[in-house]
Parts: sequence; C-alpha cells; structure tokens
Amino acid sequence: MVLLRLLVPALLASSLVAEDAFDVFWADAQQAPKAAKSAASQQRLAWWRDARFGMFIHWNMSSVAACEISWAKEFHDGIGEDLRPNPRPSAGSAAGRMAQEVNTWSHLWMRPPVPGAVYDQLHRSFYPGQFDADALVAQAKAAGMRYIVQVAKHHDGFCMFDSRFTDYDIMATPFHRDIVAEMATACAKAGMPYGIYYSQRDWHHPDYRPATMGAYNQYMRQQIQELLEAHPTIRMVWFDAGGYPGDLWEAKELFRLIHRLRPDVVINNRCGPPADFSTPEQRLGSFDLARDWESCMTFTGFWSWHGFQTTVIPFEQCLTNLIRCAGGGGNLLMNVGPMPTGQIDPREGDRLARTGAWLAANGASIYGTDGGPYKPGDYGVTTSKGQTIYLHLLNTAATTFTFPALRHRVTASSLLGGGTPQVQQNDAGLTVTIADQDRQPVDTIVVLTLDGPAATALTP
Ligand code: GLC
Repeated sequence: MVLLRLLVPALLASSLVAEDAFDVFWADAQQAPKAAKSAASQQRLAWWRDARFGMFIHWNMSSVAACEISWAKEFHDGIGEDLRPNPRPSAGSAAGRMAQEVNTWSHLWMRPPVPGAVYDQLHRSFYPGQFDADALVAQAKAAGMRYIVQVAKHHDGFCMFDSRFTDYDIMATPFHRDIVAEMATACAKAGMPYGIYYSQRDWHHPDYRPATMGAYNQYMRQQIQELLEAHPTIRMVWFDAGGYPGDLWEAKELFRLIHRLRPDVVINNRCGPPADFSTPEQRLGSFDLARDWESCMTFTGFWSWHGFQTTVIPFEQCLTNLIRCAGGGGNLLMNVGPMPTGQIDPREGDRLARTGAWLAANGASIYGTDGGPYKPGDYGVTTSKGQTIYLHLLNTAATTFTFPALRHRVTASSLLGGGTPQVQQNDAGLTVTIADQDRQPVDTIVVLTLDGPAATALTP
C-alpha cells in the first residue's frame, strides 16, 4: 500500500513529463522558424544542422527494370493516386503528351513506363548479390557525407525490410535479407546517422483508399513502430507526401508515436506540419538563415537507377550544389540510385569520391557552418562559423571581388587551398584580389578572421 502510494504519483508524474515533452515537440513541429523552436529542439537538431551533406538512397526492385521507382507503374497504368488526382501527368493524359513533345523533364521521368503486370512481379527477380552495407556506408563516409536516408518504403508500397504487417517486402524476394536492418547496423558501426524514408502514399496496400484511411494509418503506425523498435539508432524519419493535409495521415498520432519511441528524431516537412526542415526538391534552396532546409537532388534527374544511357552530372556540378546549399544556410541530400546488383553506379561513385577528396581538404568551410553573412551572388557564396567567414569564390572568370562593408575588422586572411589573398577593408567595403596561380578549379576559398562574430558582421 505504501509502495503503491509512492509509485502511483511517480508513474503519473513521469507520464505527465513525457506528455509535456511531446507537447513541446508537437508545438515545435508547427513552427518553421528556427528561433521559434524550443531549446530541446535546438539540441536535437544540432548534429543535423552541422552535417550539411547526406546521402539519399532510392533503391528497390524497380532497379531491375531500370525504371523510375513507383512512378514507372503509375505512368503506365495510371493506377496510383486514389486520394486525389495524380499530381504528375500520366503518359496518356494531355499534359503527358505535351511533355513528351516538348521533351521536358517530366517526359524523361515517365520513361520507361512499366506495365503493372511486370512491375508488380519485379521483386521476384530482385537479387542484389553484390550488396554490402558496410561498403556502401564506407562509400558515403569517404564522400564526406554525414548521414544517410534510405527508402524503406516508396509509393509502390514495397518494403525493403522484413515487416510483420505485409508480405510485399524484402522477404518475398530471392535475396531474403533485410536490407534496412543491414544498413542500420552498418551505419551504427560506422557512427553514421541513419534515417528512413517512409512514403505515406502506398499504391499496393488495399486500405490506401479514402474510405479506409483509418485502417491504413494504423498500418503505417505499426510499420514505423516496428522499424523504430528494431533499430534504435534510427535518427531521422523522412516522410513523402507533401501537399496533403496532415490530418489525412493522423499526423499528430504518428508524431506522438515517433516521439515516444525516439525523442531525438529529426523529421522532414512532408507529413503535414512544417516539422524540422523544408525539402526543396531537384533545386537549390534559396538563401534562408531563419529556417532549416535540405535540398534533395539527383545525379541523373531520376531518383532510381535508369541504366547507363543516362547522363550523370559532372563532379564540378555536384560540388557546386553542395557549396551553394551551405552558402544558402541549408543541407544537401544527394541521391544515389543503386543498381540491381546492389552497388552504386560507378559514375556516381566517381563524383562521390571526388567530392569526398575535396571535403577532406576544405570541409572546414562547409561542416558546422552557417550560410552568409553575404548573400549568394555572381561571385559565389559565403559560409561562416564563429568569427570566421569563408568566401567561396565560384566565379572563375573574375580576379577581384568587392563586398559591402563589414562591422567587424578583418584581423587575418588566408586561402584554404594555399597562397595569399589581397584583402583591403575600409568604410566603403571589402575588396579581395586573388592571384591567377592561387585560383582553384571550382571554388577558391578565402578565410577571413574577424574581431567579432560573423553572424553580426553585417547587421547589429
Ligand atoms: C517525390 C517523388 C518521389 C521521390 C521524392 C524525393 O515526391 O514522388 O519519387 O522519392 O520526391 O524527394
């Protein structure tokens, strides 16, 4: 009795504390501005803000047909979106025909459309015999990437993990190995934060219909719970149904579940509320120091592997994208589409390795920095940390650069790649001149040390 009298209030108090913590978490999820978020969220997001560069992995059995993950079937059969009209043109629609004529990205996106009768059986041929989670994680690490987000379930509903709640999963393939589990383990071993991409759209589950959303939401919660319980090191949940109201997914219940199991998780903005960060897709985010954002971009214009006939962006463009994201105050989540063998396309591997080599030498100007203080411009971008400003001079044609005046004095200057910049500072502004022989091929980085914080170098 005495014990009960002691225990009950203690239990009640601890569940109240948990409920309070969730209230804060949920209130933060409604606020996009960084400054509006609680101290707990500032702490929770710190590693992700510092990381700046992550690997996105779009991979499942669709790679067997070298077609677009999920959408290939949708573009052929137009079966996908039951909840509202398909937001993308399907091959047969007027918009689709026009897209094909004008050869826009959406034309490419829907090629090749794959008949559902084929797509729905692709998993029976999925045997990525050269998949090695440790090697993949090592490749991301060598690329200088500081987190990995992998498709656990895409819109097609196929699960890359062993799920108790569906048979349409990796155990139905001849491969019979839980790829999400192997990746989570490899990431934990390598100290690499691991996140799961989980699509609320599901073009396979019978309950994914307006009339049965309650049952479907229950299924989603069961799977998220299953994943978070099986892999306590999951650090991020990346939803993917932007543009739908959160109520459709019972977002609050989903967030409550995630928070209960993993209070330190980071969540993107595609589940209704703005949550932790916004997700500009296939484009660089605009300069924004007030909100957290992460651009997700591809090497080929496709998310999943489309064979070797695709064009892969050059290393220089990949690197410039990263630098421009950092300069704008955001992260870059660079996508790879592994091949049906389980390996990363060697052309993408080449860009990753070279980006990693660059970061090994110049990472101080990217990791743990904020964007600005100067806005991006023709010259390039700036990043900053403490009392240091990094001028990333991306314009390789110019040798002299002028900037608006700083409130703090420049007490030292150098070039990250070696050599000496000429820096002149007066009330009118700052002039930087680089000798020809000190120019770097993509980005010449001038390091300015100030006598005050970079964050207040332009404004009080
Ligand atoms: C889109 C697509 C999807 C892709 C995602 C990545 O929403 O539907 O295929 O996974 O963007 O951001």
